[in-house]
Amino acid sequence: MIRRGTRRSPRGPERRPEGAKMAALSGRARGALWVALLALCGTVLALLAVVLARTYAPRSPSPAPELWARRSRQQRLEPTFSPQERRELKEALQGAIRMQTVSFSANDQNTTALAEFEPYIRKAFPAVFSAAFIKHEVIGEYSHLFTIQGSNAQLQPYMLLAHIDVVPASPDGWDVSDPFSAEERDGFIYGRGTLDNKNSVMGILHALEFLLRRNYRPHRSFYIGLGHDEEVGGRKGAMKIVAELESRGIQLSFVLDEGSFIFDGIVTGIEKPVASIGITEKGAITANFTVTSEPGHSSAPPKRTSIGILSEALAKLEQHPMPNLFGHGPEILMFEQLAPDFSFPLNVIMSNLWLFGPLVGRFLEQTPTTNALVRTTTAITMFHAGVKSNVIPPSANATVNFRIHSSQTVDEVLGIVDKTIDDKRVKIEMESAFDPLPVSPWDDQTFGVQVFRQTIQDVFPDVGSVAPGICVGNTDSRHFVNLTNAIYRFNPVIFKPEDLPRFHGLNERISIEGYEKQVQFIFQLIQNSDISQSTEPHANHEL
Ligand SMILES: *[C@@H]1O[C@H](CO)[C@@H](O)[C@H](O)[C@H]1NC(C)=O
Ligand SMILES: *[C@@H]1O[C@H](CO)[C@@H](O)[C@H](O)[C@H]1NC(C)=O
Ligand SMILES: *[C@@H]1O[C@H](CO)[C@@H](O)[C@H](O)[C@H]1NC(C)=O
Ligand SMILES: *[C@@H]1O[C@H](CO)[C@@H](O)[C@H](O)[C@H]1NC(C)=O
Ligand SMILES: [Zn+2]
Repeated sequence: MIRRGTRRSPRGPERRPEGAKMAALSGRARGALWVALLALCGTVLALLAVVLARTYAPRSPSPAPELWARRSRQQRLEPTFSPQERRELKEALQGAIRMQTVSFSANDQNTTALAEFEPYIRKAFPAVFSAAFIKHEVIGEYSHLFTIQGSNAQLQPYMLLAHIDVVPASPDGWDVSDPFSAEERDGFIYGRGTLDNKNSVMGILHALEFLLRRNYRPHRSFYIGLGHDEEVGGRKGAMKIVAELESRGIQLSFVLDEGSFIFDGIVTGIEKPVASIGITEKGAITANFTVTSEPGHSSAPPKRTSIGILSEALAKLEQHPMPNLFGHGPEILMFEQLAPDFSFPLNVIMSNLWLFGPLVGRFLEQTPTTNALVRTTTAITMFHAGVKSNVIPPSANATVNFRIHSSQTVDEVLGIVDKTIDDKRVKIEMESAFDPLPVSPWDDQTFGVQVFRQTIQDVFPDVGSVAPGICVGNTDSRHFVNLTNAIYRFNPVIFKPEDLPRFHGLNERISIEGYEKQVQFIFQLIQNSDISQSTEPHANHEL
């Protein structure tokens, strides 16, 4: 995930900075929702029948497991690993964490560590690098593209993504002595990159390695893309991989990248773990706001200085947040999908968003993390002004970072900003801007969704629901929109409330058992992707 600024912005709807704060709000929100519901029910009794009918309507059956049932059981390799393989898994991940593949900025990466990564994976995954049907290419010097040629060229290939680079980490505040030591403690591996995202880099390659050692050959072709500059925008890695695949005329059936997680005990009112799969990402604008004025001495100041004018403009932005758009974007899909899993009375509310939508929208805006789901957010991140205590400042400038809700565009947001500030003295310059990502299909007919549902059922039988989510941050997968309309963001790792404060901050860690599960997930996902889908285009997909 890309980190902007010093604090990582939360990404999933359920990502909240502090477990305690979250629990408190949830209780309050739940109580308030309940009160509001009672009030409504008292006055609008006629609606009750409709509401209950919607809440307790039969659920649609789970998707097409017969597709997989039809496959011969013998053909299928079980995701069980020997004690020696499990040790190998753990040690290979630890070795990868120890390589300090840090992205400090787009022009400052630890290229020594990035260069060391290739010989490292060559040694760790001998079967991957020697299989006759696998092609390995280095792209943009440090990124990697693997083409795994399936035996059936009729099947449209898919792609797995992960990134090698990590954000910086200083040892201050970590429970272990060094964030790059990959120290094992109480069943966890600690270190920068254990969740973002070397677990996926190594997990994908190791799952493939184990499949190959069991003489597996896929039916369906697939690609593995490992970017080396995701944390600073993906221009040198992911974008070059995309250009390469585009030049070969490749279209993908789906792309799976990092992003959301399996949330356990995090979604208020849902007991069983929820697998949240990101179907879109918010857009973003980074813009500089500048005011210049005549310099002069502070003994005879003008009425307004550049600092005062700019401050007022910025204050207006904070006082007039962008509109609450709950119900206008795909976030509503998540609530609709999860509705039957909520306990009473939230199930009634979530099943009837046609009625309670505005109410739910209001509650979601109460905490920063859920607020990020319902609107374009505005964050003033930098402010520079003033040169001397007795000099009228010749200029003041500030940087503002907007994260755009799925139902808005860059132009619409800029239009609102202009109208809100309404002051010609404030000049706005764009540093970077992109629209929200398209929303990937989410229904039981979509191949990727079928594969994810089946694989989650195989490996995480305790998961109660698989629901679409929204990524508030960005991933390398955003560069892949020309190769497929089906981009999904999901890290098959369980998150509990106590894990949230660690996320992307101090003490990033993964449990050894959790990592093994991730490898099992990919091991199964590759096999599950071998089925052919009736709706598949029957073109010949040359690689
Ligand atoms: C870069 O990576 C190398 C190899 O992992 C490491 O020895 C070195 O200290 C790192 N340098 C920085 C500035 O992180
Ligand atoms: C922002 O303001 C500071 C302080 O006045 C100045 O040094 C700097 O050059 C300005 N930067 C931009 C991009 O205008
Ligand atoms: C915006 O401001 C930042 C920080 O002052 C500066 O690094 C950047 O160059 C500026 N960009 C533009 C387009 O003015
Ligand atoms: C997708 O293709 C269009 C048209 O060729 C191009 O303008 C656009 O930049 C491409 N988008 C990405 C993210 O590569
Ligand atoms: Zn990442």
